Amino acid sequence: MVRLFVAVWPPEDVVADLTSLPRKDQRGVRFVPAENWHLTLRFLGEADPDVVAAALDGVMYPAATVRLGPGVDLLGDRALVLPASGLDELAATVTARTADLGERPRPRFVGHLTLARVAPHARMPAVLGAYLRAAFDVTEIALVRSRLGPGGARYDTLGTWAVGPI
Ligand code: 2AM
Repeated sequence: MVRLFVAVWPPEDVVADLTSLPRKDQRGVRFVPAENWHLTLRFLGEADPDVVAAALDGVMYPAATVRLGPGVDLLGDRALVLPASGLDELAATVTARTADLGERPRPRFVGHLTLARVAPHARMPAVLGAYLRAAFDVTEIALVRSRLGPGGARYDTLGTWAVGPI
């Protein structure tokens, strides 16, 4: 069993746009490194990757256009995120296929890309409220393994599935 989630990796040009956001080191703020930026469709937690991969096989995944922004926002009281629209149907498809694997699905999908996590009582960094808009067509979804360590999470793509018309 390994810690898994299904996500969309943003394309390079979008990653390049996002690197323009202010990311000044600050006590109590952990910025997600650019190579880890992703949009989670379904968090599974501990699950068997082969079983999850088999559940994702043979599905027609609906085409999706992601719109990020228009500004960096708070999700809950600790995550600084770019809101993401356009992924609801794709997330619902992935969730339906994996509903009885890993953790129980969240009742509601909230599309977002996490940029930073803020410790309780830490000052909010300048990136909150920064304006950024980006859009891209999703070409594939990825099954990702997460390894948590003292230096943060390490993500490895275990498999990908095409999205949209072939
Ligand atoms: P987040 O970015 O809002 O923290 C990998 O951990 C991904 O799965 C992250 O994008 C995280 O969302 C998401 N996720 C959803 N539920 C989670 C949970 N219970 N624990 C950790 N990550 C979770």
